[in-house]
Amino acid sequence: MNAVCFKVIDHGTPEYQASVALRQEVLRTPLGLVFTTEELAKEKDHIHLVGFSDDKLIATASLVPELFTCKMRQVAVSTSMQGLGMGSKLVDFCESHAIENGHQSIHCHAREYAVPFYTKKGYIPEGEYFIEVNISHLHMRKVLSAL
Ligand SMILES: CC(C)(COP(=O)(O)OP(=O)(O)OC[C@H]1O[C@@H](n2cnc3c(N)ncnc32)[C@H](O)[C@@H]1OP(=O)(O)O)[C@@H](O)C(=O)NCCC(=O)NCCS
Repeated sequence: MNAVCFKVIDHGTPEYQASVALRQEVLRTPLGLVFTTEELAKEKDHIHLVGFSDDKLIATASLVPELFTCKMRQVAVSTSMQGLGMGSKLVDFCESHAIENGHQSIHCHAREYAVPFYTKKGYIPEGEYFIEVNISHLHMRKVLSAL
């Protein structure tokens, strides 16, 4: 397998459109949902991080900066590349970006089936399970230490 290159991309670019397509395929279509124009417009102020392998976008996540923390959302790896360590590297890249930008912690709404993945990455549950996009989620957080 070739090396994966991670980078930050801008909202509205062809790379961003490719990340939306990946998220639609991996996160929304299985739930029978589609992204709305309004939803995507709100992502203008978010930070979009992606992984490329062989010029193909295979992983994506977004960060929403908050006061001392940031929210990680829309974490997705293309189906054919899941289970190969890409999700782990993507989360590492998000955490490094958050640390470089002065955030003390990073939190997310983890889908219930992905909770073991985040637990392995050091994320701790906060509160009880709740429903979002029609499925069970858990709020999880990781305190970040400097690089
Ligand atoms: C969840 C997801 C991002 C994980 O990425 P990935 O590339 O498949 O995961 P990795 O190969 O990096 O796995 C890292 C570790 O987590 C474990 N893991 C990954 N997904 C898991 C799951 N759903 N349940 C249990 N363990 C899991 C792996 O076995 C691996 O463990 P190891 O370090 O002991 O070998 C990816 O599978 C995905 O995109 N899933 C569909 C969309 C999704 O659920 N996104 C998250 C929304 S909150």
